Amino acid sequence: MEPFRHHIFVCTQEKPEGITCCPSNGSWRILRALDRELGCQGLDNEVQVSTCGCLGLCEEGPIMITYPEGVWYRKVKEEDVPEIVGSHLRSGKVVSRLEWSDAPAMKAAAVEHRDHYRAMLRAKDEAGVLPDELYELSRAFMSSRALLTALEMDLFTAVGTGATAAQVALRIHADLRATEMLLNALTSLKLLEKRDSCFSNTTASGRFFAEGSRDNARPGLMHIANLWHRWSTLTECVRAGTSLGVGGRAGIREENWVRDFIAAMDRNAKERAGAVVKAVETGGIKRILDLGGGSAAYSIAFARAVAGLRSEIVDLDDVVPLTREYIRQAGLGERVTVRPGDMLRDPLGENYDLILILAICHMFSPEENRALFRRAFNALAPKGRVVVQDFILEPSKTAPRAAALFSLNMLVGTKAGSSYSEPEFAAWFREAGFADVRRVQLPGPSGLMIGTRM
Ligand SMILES: C[S@@+](CC[C@H](N)C(=O)[O-])C[C@H]1O[C@@H](n2cnc3c(N)ncnc32)[C@H](O)[C@@H]1O
Ligand code: FES
Repeated sequence: MEPFRHHIFVCTQEKPEGITCCPSNGSWRILRALDRELGCQGLDNEVQVSTCGCLGLCEEGPIMITYPEGVWYRKVKEEDVPEIVGSHLRSGKVVSRLEWSDAPAMKAAAVEHRDHYRAMLRAKDEAGVLPDELYELSRAFMSSRALLTALEMDLFTAVGTGATAAQVALRIHADLRATEMLLNALTSLKLLEKRDSCFSNTTASGRFFAEGSRDNARPGLMHIANLWHRWSTLTECVRAGTSLGVGGRAGIREENWVRDFIAAMDRNAKERAGAVVKAVETGGIKRILDLGGGSAAYSIAFARAVAGLRSEIVDLDDVVPLTREYIRQAGLGERVTVRPGDMLRDPLGENYDLILILAICHMFSPEENRALFRRAFNALAPKGRVVVQDFILEPSKTAPRAAALFSLNMLVGTKAGSSYSEPEFAAWFREAGFADVRRVQLPGPSGLMIGTRM
């Protein structure tokens, strides 16, 4: 049974640099063209497109197979896609100039490729050579660091629609030789394009990294550039069992740290706010307390979703002016307010219908979280609820990977913070007196835990 009229597979198997593979011959361009063309020709719901691993015919790539016919196309180019869609997928006429139907030759090539691959793996294994994936993992920071430096220097804005290395070096106040090396490396990472000696942004770099673009994500990503300095102390932190206090409020780059951090939180929060509001039945909610509300993104989302709802944010002194600015921009100053305070020590108020503890618990130790849950319980009206959002580890604490790695982010950045598991969150809720404690899945590695004061 085929749920779609056609099912297409395009090989996207990446191979180490210098080895011919379908992506190096343009299979991602084929996929984008297919997406475009199927939409244009009204076949979006008739044809399913999937990526697949190596089919053993790498020299003839990109390889594309169409089912149910089982037609194999080879050396497909972007400009062939409209013809494949129009002729084959729309009218049932195979594009014979691209078809590869010599089954014995295909099988021989695939078997030869497989045997060669297995022999190579065996030889590497016998020689004790470090596997590619382990080597790549050990140097993965190089690509990331090149991008972070480019973001720190606002290089993508300097490149704009086209500039030579000398022009870029002048604009970012940097050394010419070094700037050119960085530009070349960014081009190798497909973050820039180079024609003759002129560099230009790719569509994605211009859209997400350059000043003036609506979708510029640089302010939020600058927080990741700041985190780099903390992460470089990981070895010492593992020895010491706590953060060394590098970066952040008391450390280097003090001036921009808080602004970049809140911009990053805003970016994450806006991505999830709709799902969080949806997951919390909002009927009857009139007053919210948003602990550590940061950019106010969640309070703003709740206020927009529920007429008349008021939200009070508590955050640290140096964040409050930034929070106010986000609220002002949203035009919700009447219903979303912010006050300076320490959620672990200062009075929280009382009779709230909902208390938000979103992306907070990972900053604190288990003892601090226990105390926080008790304080929240006491600040709720009867039947009021607490919503916690965080990375939630599986009981083994080894997955999801993003949550396990984020635990290290807390090690290098806080005194005693960590990612926590569902049983830990559930225990804190119950110990504080909450009932009806439940978990709500969100897309991605973070989730919600909700408890009710009965
Ligand atoms: C990771 S951010 C989360 C922001 C927001 N809840 C969100 O999800 O977008 C943590 C927030 O808690 C604030 N914060 C940290 N410690 C705090 C404390 N003891 N009392 C009040 N706010 C605190 C930080 O300033 C920051 O705005
Ligand atoms: S990489 Fe596509 S067939 Fe091998």
